[in-house]
Amino acid sequence: MYLDLRQLSISALALSFVAALPLEERGQGLFGGSSSCVAQKSFSLPTRGHSSYDTHSFHYNLGGDCNHDRLKVKQHDPHGRICDPSSPWDIHRDLPTVCPIGHYFFWFFSDTFAYKSDGSFVGAASNSVVVSRNANDPSSVQEISIENDGTVSVAIPWTDAEKKVQYEDDRYALWAFGPCIPIDGTHSSQVWSVVKFTNSSYSETIGYTIADYSIEDGSLVVSRREVMTFSSTSYAYGAFASLLVNGVVYMYALDTKHSGKYDVHLASAPRATLYDQSTWSYYDGSTDSWTSTPPDSSQRNQDKAVLTGAMPFSTGSMFYSDYHNAYVLVYFTNWADSKFYAITASSPSGPWDTTATLLFETEYGENGYNYGGQAAPVIESGVTLGQKIVVSYTYQDSNSNWYGKTETVEFE
Ligand SMILES: *[C@@H]1O[C@H](CO)[C@@H](O)[C@H](O)[C@H]1NC(C)=O
Repeated sequence: MYLDLRQLSISALALSFVAALPLEERGQGLFGGSSSCVAQKSFSLPTRGHSSYDTHSFHYNLGGDCNHDRLKVKQHDPHGRICDPSSPWDIHRDLPTVCPIGHYFFWFFSDTFAYKSDGSFVGAASNSVVVSRNANDPSSVQEISIENDGTVSVAIPWTDAEKKVQYEDDRYALWAFGPCIPIDGTHSSQVWSVVKFTNSSYSETIGYTIADYSIEDGSLVVSRREVMTFSSTSYAYGAFASLLVNGVVYMYALDTKHSGKYDVHLASAPRATLYDQSTWSYYDGSTDSWTSTPPDSSQRNQDKAVLTGAMPFSTGSMFYSDYHNAYVLVYFTNWADSKFYAITASSPSGPWDTTATLLFETEYGENGYNYGGQAAPVIESGVTLGQKIVVSYTYQDSNSNWYGKTETVEFE
């Protein structure tokens, strides 16, 4: 069985989203006029996150071999549906993408629908965000973009032009497929697909925009510096996975168009100049070197890829693991088998050992498979970095009901 999950989930969504649209912007977006961004809004956070998260404390002690035998899963604890126990609404939502920032653990979702318990419609948004308050129960979250009074608003602010067409067939959607790009203890960024609907049943990705997240005075501030950061013809660097290593941000792009989702390409930038694309370098696998010229993305360019999978990728997350003494990519394949796999590398640019280790199979619902797999290490005193991770994915119980689930995974 070969399913293109991305197409599949989007077309299902596109159909059901139409009726829901007019309530889209019931929330109060704070569209900033600041010269450094094209759109901005902020959300109040719970007074403190879980104190055990500290995304600052990564060490890179590589040297010696990867501890491959430690990829054996000792136990995985399903935490069930990602849900705010204090929210009165039944919320269906797509594609939880994981975003650890400092002491907080956020999930950003794509298409989100809120209903009353009797099934009547409350509101919908192209995307939404929740924050976890407990590392030991990551599915127990606080809603921050859907309020208990029924205000449903997007997590990623629209530009004025995008906002204008939200009530028409001719509208925009912002959807993310990969985790956040780690920046520091109070900042992160995430690549969002800018999707344009030309009518109620047809949409295409026209480019990618980067949303910046910053924790300021007890709020999450979401800003976009540019309407579009990449066009849809370039590789979507950072949209598949990313790493921060010794002040350098590594941004991975999956070639979804020409490689059948097998090839991953890599760009890097100093953290301090991430937003200046003239400072970016592009990895060239054919010479194992970096160049200032991006590879031609108009055709398959496998020799320049940093990684070609043994199976096609759909979604995943990369992180450094002290426990495995390796950079680890935890992912779902494009085979719709609901299984988490892992591969490892000894440096951000490889070489990658593409022999996949099956971690475990997640329990799936009536629709036959889970999708949108993500992972992030749990940072906890007494636990070696990478020994314990939280994974998340979209679970579907019928054609029209999807929601996020999480599990804590501990390696042997
Ligand atoms: C929607 O737009 C697409 C692309 O422009 C077009 O091929 C299709 O016929 C349109 N469908 C309807 C129902 O208008």
